[in-house]
Amino acid sequence: MTPSMHLSPSVLSSAAQAELVDALVEQGWYVGRGVIDLDLCHALHQELHHMAAHNALDEAGIGRGKQHHLRKDVRGDAIHWLDRESDAQRRYLMAMENLQQVLNQTLFLGLFEYEAHFAHYPPGAFYQRHLDSFRGRANRVISTVGYLNPAWPADGGGEMVLYHPDAPDQAVARVVPEAGTFACFMSDTIPHEVLPTQQPRASIAGWFRRNASMGGVLDPAR
Ligand code: OGA
Ligand code: MN
Repeated sequence: MTPSMHLSPSVLSSAAQAELVDALVEQGWYVGRGVIDLDLCHALHQELHHMAAHNALDEAGIGRGKQHHLRKDVRGDAIHWLDRESDAQRRYLMAMENLQQVLNQTLFLGLFEYEAHFAHYPPGAFYQRHLDSFRGRANRVISTVGYLNPAWPADGGGEMVLYHPDAPDQAVARVVPEAGTFACFMSDTIPHEVLPTQQPRASIAGWFRRNASMGGVLDPAR
């Protein structure tokens, strides 16, 4: 790690943040290329690669709490929740806290928390089209995805496809998972999927949350 990594205040520049806010308001989604610091992407990628090589990742499932179960036909990634255990994680999470403040100040969303996991998609893995939260139970308000792969060939597959909120057959963006790219979208209106990847694919998926109470029960733990 270089000393400048500690000094550099913003992982996402304020220009990128302003563009992101406008895009969220206008269309419900944002994709920026070359907006996350590449040194940071590299450090996070190394960390995920190390965990994958040592079988330290958990198979991803769907649903929360008791409803949580594995569905390889739905998603094939393996994950690790960010826990602030490295400088790189802390730096990424600080950038997200900063973004949360900007979103609350500009859009009055009342976001109170951010959670995120590393995701490793082995070759052949995908994540079928889905929404990250459902209206009325919208504890996840805004989704974020940061990509960590240093190079991505044209035939590498693994793009994240975003769909139009009102015309779910219409793809509005195809996001190549290359380092530096950051995507952000409304969790309850933007359907999206991860196409089958041809090579190991690394990302960090995260969610800004509101505390939604469900039937008197506080938003359940993941
Ligand atoms: C998710 C998700 C997309 C990606 O984890 O919910 O949609 O590109 N991830 O990793
Ligand atoms: Mn998703």
